[in-house]
Amino acid sequence: MALVEPLDDEQLNRVWSPILSPLAWDLGHIANFEELWLVQRIGGREPLRGELGRFYDAIENPRKVRGELPILRDEELRAYMADVRERTLDVLEGVEIGPDVEDPLLRDGFVYEMLLAHELQHDETMLQLLQLVPGYEPGRGAGHLSPGQTPGQLARRFEYPPVREMPRTPDTVVVKGGSYEVGAPANGFAYDNERPRHMVELESFEIDRTPVTNGAYVSYMEATGAEPPLYWERDGGGWVDVSRGRREPIDPAAPVIHVSWEQADGFARWAGKRLPTEFEWEAACGQLEGVGHGWEWTSSHFLAYPGFEAFPYREYSEVFFGDEYRVLRGASWATHPRVARPSFRNWDLPQRSQIFSGIRCARDA
Ligand SMILES: [Fe+2]
Repeated sequence: MALVEPLDDEQLNRVWSPILSPLAWDLGHIANFEELWLVQRIGGREPLRGELGRFYDAIENPRKVRGELPILRDEELRAYMADVRERTLDVLEGVEIGPDVEDPLLRDGFVYEMLLAHELQHDETMLQLLQLVPGYEPGRGAGHLSPGQTPGQLARRFEYPPVREMPRTPDTVVVKGGSYEVGAPANGFAYDNERPRHMVELESFEIDRTPVTNGAYVSYMEATGAEPPLYWERDGGGWVDVSRGRREPIDPAAPVIHVSWEQADGFARWAGKRLPTEFEWEAACGQLEGVGHGWEWTSSHFLAYPGFEAFPYREYSEVFFGDEYRVLRGASWATHPRVARPSFRNWDLPQRSQIFSGIRCARDA
């Protein structure tokens, strides 16, 4: 709510982009998803608004149609959100969520952690849209998501504990070929697509310690005529960032974001390198610097791990498996630390750049 506090109802209801939902849809969807799982499923109660839920089903209603749906708006939306939260807390009063509970949804509070993660991930999606709103600054209480933070302030937000010590050069982390364990451990919260944890064989490789900078990306554009990142415009001899209606000079030392997989792959080839696979990234992530500026594109398609089991519903991951999507690893400045972890797999279409996506290069050793 702090994120959208500065906006009026017209801004919440407006369709800003065919690939992003109106903010009112996200808000209603967050509440409806909470109602579906924590009130109806766990509490066994009837829905507050009958059939409303079908308009908030993300699979049934692709982003480009969400502005046309008879969703809740304005006061009605705020009242629904408040009603759902009240019922959620009421149900929670009578629920057991310990480690020995039989229902896997409730064991260790899985379904509650899932709903928190869902809401936090929609915050990031809403921040993607908020880049289109002129003059936008988050309201009080959303300071951890301020786009005004400098890269230096963010640089150490997602420092993962070293998986094992690895030799380094000044610019790269050197990873010896061998067996590496990847994926989320069996205990603790993670999505189904991060499991089961398993061993992978990696050839020796080197991965850059830091992400590709804006300055390096400008050199690539100048050498090849490649397209600029989203929200960049020419300004005299240089480039400015025009997101949120600003015209801020591009900082050449900051990591580049808002690049597509195609741009990331093109950059890596031009630099005589390649994108890491998602397992290379995960094996090395305890040693990488600058994780948390932007999601990092990998060369991997979004596929099921061996022994994958959909939980708690097929539509979270399984319906997206295949060679259409590429995996991104790490986190961005808009990712809440609670949902950032070494095994987390994000995914998107290779031509997309509205997400906060950047580049880190690797090469065979
Ligand atoms: Fe969702």
